[in-house]
Amino acid sequence: MPDGRHAALLVSPAVDYSAIAIIRCVSALSSSPSDAAAPRDGVAQVLHRDAYDGLASLTERSVDLLCTSPPYWGHRDYGQEHNEQILATWRAHAEDPKACPPYAWYTENGGVLGLEPYPEWYVAHLVEILDRAGPALKLGGNAWINLGDTYFGRWSSIRPHGRQGLGGTPRTRRRTPSGGWLHDKQLLMLPARFAIAMQDAGWILRNDLIWSKPHVPPRPERDRLRLSHEHFFHFVQRSKGARPTYFYDREGAEQGALDVVSVQPNYGMTHHPATFPTALIAPRISSSSPVGGLVCDPFCGSGTTLACAVELGRDAIGFDLSRTYVGVSKAYLEGIDALQLTR
Ligand SMILES: C[S@@+](CC[C@H](N)C(=O)[O-])C[C@H]1O[C@@H](n2cnc3c(N)ncnc32)[C@H](O)[C@@H]1O
Repeated sequence: MPDGRHAALLVSPAVDYSAIAIIRCVSALSSSPSDAAAPRDGVAQVLHRDAYDGLASLTERSVDLLCTSPPYWGHRDYGQEHNEQILATWRAHAEDPKACPPYAWYTENGGVLGLEPYPEWYVAHLVEILDRAGPALKLGGNAWINLGDTYFGRWSSIRPHGRQGLGGTPRTRRRTPSGGWLHDKQLLMLPARFAIAMQDAGWILRNDLIWSKPHVPPRPERDRLRLSHEHFFHFVQRSKGARPTYFYDREGAEQGALDVVSVQPNYGMTHHPATFPTALIAPRISSSSPVGGLVCDPFCGSGTTLACAVELGRDAIGFDLSRTYVGVSKAYLEGIDALQLTR
């Protein structure tokens, strides 16, 4: 059973404790002088939940940092079953079929985040989900959201776990509605569209950090360059009638504090296909949350953010829709002392 501090993180009493991993670990990674001065035990928990519900269940003003990587559009289903008829269902149901369905309607009708028929739906859903973190974020809290882009294809490949476009792993081919700007071979600029939609929703964008990947797998296309970067957006909340102020320790960021970082992805190093490299997120945690603070990853996957937060002396809470990945996270967190994190 959880201790008092751990139980206090959630408003909802209906917590499935079987899906929780609790670990304590003396901070070992210290990338900022203030971190080094205050080593402490961290506590982590993982819950099997949709991020939409998990974020709304958090205690008001309890979270210092939201650090996450949601599913990208049109890449993977992460083992979830998607209703491919959802567009027809919506058109039959909606007063304005051109409007985007609210996320709750979408999931109740079998829709999966990242597999929306239109990228506009995906962006709207992502912003709607992340907006639910607003009340839980402390005044002065931070949010770092990592997103990669997608090339449009009328016939696109969705893989359960593998990387898009690579042979050898099972895939589903699906027909995506086209027209207007949705044209074969179009780079969709989804990270930019997402960042602008977040700004429209009231968030303040502080950085568009480019995560450059020095080595990426080969691609079959001969008519374009290989995509070798993703975006990591830093958002803060507005302060009423004042310039935003928030926790920030620049000493915790990478040397030189530049907005382009080169970090090799963790291809195939865990049981999850899209794991954060620790070298990418440790500086986000150190710079954007205090020692002893609470870090939340609402799409926690293999639990890298949570493990890294705990190693840095923060508490952590994560959600994932996949029972499998909740298990992976739990095992990862429980074995943290035995595991060498890649830095
Ligand atoms: C890009 S991965 C995150 C990987 C993670 N950063 C790591 O280091 O392992 C996205 C994760 O979100 C989960 N997911 C997808 N839809 C979700 C939802 N609606 N709520 C919570 N988790 C979801 C997937 O199961 C997947 O593990």
